[in-house]
Order: sequence, then C-alpha cells, then structure tokens
Amino acid sequence: MTDSVQQLLKRGAGRTDEAMEHLLPGPETLPHSIHRAMRHSVFAGGKRLRPLLAMEAARTIAGDLPRGVEDLGCALEMIHTYSLIHDDLPSLDNDDLRRGKPTCHVVFGEAIAILAGDALQTLAYETLGKLPCDPGAAIQIVKEVAIATGTGVGGALPPGMIGGQVMDIESEGHAPTADLVEAIHRAKTGALITVCIVAGGIYAGASAAQVAHLRAFGERAGLAFQIVDDILDVTQSSEELGKTAGKDTATAKATWPAVFGLDASRKQSDALITDAFAELDTFGASADSLRSIARYLVERTH
Ligand code: IPE
Ligand code: IPE
Ligand code: MG
Ligand code: MG
Ligand code: MG
Repeated sequence: MTDSVQQLLKRGAGRTDEAMEHLLPGPETLPHSIHRAMRHSVFAGGKRLRPLLAMEAARTIAGDLPRGVEDLGCALEMIHTYSLIHDDLPSLDNDDLRRGKPTCHVVFGEAIAILAGDALQTLAYETLGKLPCDPGAAIQIVKEVAIATGTGVGGALPPGMIGGQVMDIESEGHAPTADLVEAIHRAKTGALITVCIVAGGIYAGASAAQVAHLRAFGERAGLAFQIVDDILDVTQSSEELGKTAGKDTATAKATWPAVFGLDASRKQSDALITDAFAELDTFGASADSLRSIARYLVERTH
C-alpha cells in the first residue's frame, strides 16, 4: 500500500468518524440498547471505503471537498453497516465476528440487532434529507440510493443490494454459474459502491455526462471489490480479515473463485480495474485519488 493511499484512507476515516459522532445518537440516549447496538457496529473499525469513494468522487468534480459531503459519506456508511448487521444474522450468513469484534446480534441479541439495522437505514435517509446541498441534487441522491439498495422494482431495474442478498442466500449450496455469480455480485455489493461514487458526483454538481462516467467506473470497481472479498475469504486468516475466513467454502456460497478459480479471479479483478480507469480519463489528474482507491480495492489484504 503506497503512502498516499494510506493517507487518503486515514483522512477519509477520520472525517467520517468525526461527522458520524454528530449524527448518531449517544450511548446515553434512550432506549439505550438500540443506540449502543448501532454505535457498536458503526464504530467497530470498518475501512470507511464507501464514504471515502463518495468524498473523492465529489472532489474529482468540484476540485475540493464540498461543504457537508461528510454527511453524505456517513449516510452511505450507515446503510453499509446496516447491511453488515443483517448479513451476519443467524438467518443469513450466521457470523459471530465482524470488524474484529463480536457481531451485533451476539452482543445485543437478535431482536435489537435487526432493529439497529433498521434504525441505521432510517437515520441514513433522514441524513440524506438534510444534506446541505442543492435540494434537487438531494432528491436525486435519495432516489439513486433507494434504487441501488432495493430489489429492482417490477423487474424494470436491475436488482440492488437487497435483491443481491436474496439471490446470494437462495443460491447457497447450488453449483453457481458465471452469470449468476456476476448478477449476485453486481447487486449485493457493486450497486452500493457505484451509488457512493455517483452520489458524490451529484452532490458536487456533476453533469449527466460526468455522472455516466462515474457510474461506469463504479460498476467496474464495485464488481472487482466483491471478487476480491471472495478471494480474501479463501486466502486470508480471520485475524487479518476481522471476520470469519473460509466461510464461503464452508457454506457453499456462490463466489467468483468457486466458478473461475483463484488465479483467474485475480486476473479478472485486475482487468476490471484497468477498464474502470478508462472511465476516468475524461477527468484527468483530478481523479487521481479515485484511481488510487480503486487500485487499493484490488490490492488490499483485508
Ligand atoms: C464487507 O465490506 C462487506 C461486503 C460488501 C463484501 P468492507 O470490506 O468494505 O467492510 P468494512 O466496512 O471495512 O468492515
Ligand atoms: C455481503 O457480502 C454483502 C452485503 C452485506 C450487502 P458477504 O456476505 O460476502 O460479506 P462478508 O464477507 O460477510 O463481509
Ligand atoms: Mg452474505
Ligand atoms: Mg457475509
Ligand atoms: Mg464475503
């Protein structure tokens, strides 16, 4: 990992954590259990990649960080954290380790963990509704985020995060095809990563053409990200990952390495990042930080 990416990650996480502290209810707010559960998962030590992508996409368009963009990043990180709390539940992936800590339901019980996930989602939309940006941009962001995290209403849109989670759970134990695993990955993970980049651009006043390039970049980087998540599940330890390693094989999940093998998975994630870079050409040097983060997405070790 180069110094500059390390700096970017550190600064992005610092900005996110500071804003998150203002947005989340404190541990003494009643009812205590749910606020402590929300804070447990939000402050467990995630990489904060989604807020960083939103902020750096905004910087690519505006030349600097627009005022209040941290709140956009926090809303997206709340949604991501809600998805992790629910992903770890006994009825989904049944995991007891997340971000190096016991999972939300292990500490607070299943009922409070479900509700903490729900509450993070509603707080995310409240935060989006209060964004200090052009009201038209805020409405567009709300719509984009809802679609990216939904189920693909009426089949007219590709499924988003929840639709992807459904396909992931329903394909457990069946031999996956290449088409199925790609559809799952684009939906369960790629869609949220893409919308972080798109929303950052919209927040900063991107034109429709600029949004289209950011979206195409995000779709490629988001798919590469989930391929690498699958690779790391096979190659890393639970200690390094902060979550249970080897889980995908044990539960016969539809993963990229299960379909293509590890070597081809590595080559394909690298190729996707090269394709993603082509979408940033139009932005010149102002997209350098997005390029470094995208490179990190496939070179990371946890
Ligand atoms: C993990 O995401 C969940 C997936 C969508 C694969 P991250 O690897 O970004 O997890 P944190 O936020 O750093 O914990
Ligand atoms: C999680 O995918 C995707 C969402 C939470 C939407 P995984 O199940 O692969 O994530 P990890 O490996 O548990 O972090
Ligand atoms: Mg899962
Ligand atoms: Mg999981
Ligand atoms: Mg995984």
